[in-house]
Amino acid sequence: MTSDRKIIIDVRDLDVSIGGCPVLERINLQILENTFTGLIGPNGGGKTTLLRALLGLIRPERGEILIQGRHLGTGDSRAWIMGYVPQKIAVQRGAPFSVLDTVVMGRYGKIGLGGRPKKKDREMALSCLEEVGMAHVARQLIGTLSGGEQQRVFIARALCAEPKVLILDEPTAAVDVAGQDSFYRLLHRLREAYSLTVFMATHDVGVVPIHCDAIACLNRTLHLHGRPEEILKKDVFKKLYGSEVEMVMHGKIPHRMIGKHHD
Ligand SMILES: Nc1ncnc2c1ncn2[C@@H]1O[C@H](COP(=O)(O)OP(=O)(O)O)[C@@H](O)[C@H]1O
Ligand SMILES: [Mg+2]
Repeated sequence: MTSDRKIIIDVRDLDVSIGGCPVLERINLQILENTFTGLIGPNGGGKTTLLRALLGLIRPERGEILIQGRHLGTGDSRAWIMGYVPQKIAVQRGAPFSVLDTVVMGRYGKIGLGGRPKKKDREMALSCLEEVGMAHVARQLIGTLSGGEQQRVFIARALCAEPKVLILDEPTAAVDVAGQDSFYRLLHRLREAYSLTVFMATHDVGVVPIHCDAIACLNRTLHLHGRPEEILKKDVFKKLYGSEVEMVMHGKIPHRMIGKHHD
C-alpha cells in the first residue's frame, strides 16, 4: 500500500498453534494508522485467533508482533492501546452488573490490578455511553438489554480504555440489516472522533468493500491483503468471494461502487 501513514500493527512471520494444532502460519501483516481493515475468511480460518494474538491473549509459537514499533509480550501493558469487542458476549440475564459498571471495566487496564475505579473513571464511562447513544440506560442491569444494545455497551467499554486501535470480532453477526446500518454509521463516527485504527473480523464479505479501506483474507495463512480496489480485481479473490460481493454491490444497501466508480 502506498501511503505516508505509519504502521501501527506489524505482524512478522507469525505462527500460532492451539493444543498442538497449527492454526496460523507465517502471517505477515502491516496495518497502517487510521485505516479500517476488514479481516475475512471462512469459519475456523483463524480470524479470532489472530485478533487474540494481537491483543497479547495468546502466545505465538513463532514470529513477532510489534505495536507502534514495540514488541508485544503476552499480557503486555501495550495491549491496552487496543480496544477489544469480542465475538461472543454471553451476558446472563440476571448478571449483577449495571451498564455503567460494564463500561467501567474497560478502564481496568489503566486503573491497574487491585485498583478501584474513581470518579474520573465513571465520568469517562458515562461519556463513552453517551458516545454510543446508551447513556439513558446507564443504571440498568446489562442483562436486560437486547443483543444490539449490549453490543453498543461493549463498544463503549472498549472506547473507555482510550484505545488507538479498535478490534472487533464479527460485530454484526447477530444484528439485523437496519441494525448493521446504524452500527457502521456509529463505527465511522467513532473512527473520525477518536482517530481510531479499526481491525474488524467479519464473515460478511460484501460489507468489506463498502466500508473498509483494506481487506485481509485469512485461511490459516494470509492469502491477500491490500486496498479493496486492488483485491477485488484479483482472480483469487473473485474465485473465493466474487459472487457474494456482486450480490451486495447490486443489492439494496446504499453503496459506492468500488472498482467501477468513475469519480
Ligand atoms: N480454544 C480452542 N481450543 C481448540 N481449538 C481451537 C480453540 N480456539 C480455536 N481453535 C481452532 O483454531 C482454528 C481457528 O479458529 P478461530 O480463530 O476461532 O477461527 P475463526 O474466528 O476464523 O472462525 C479452528 O480450527 C478452531 O477449531
Ligand atoms: Mg471467530
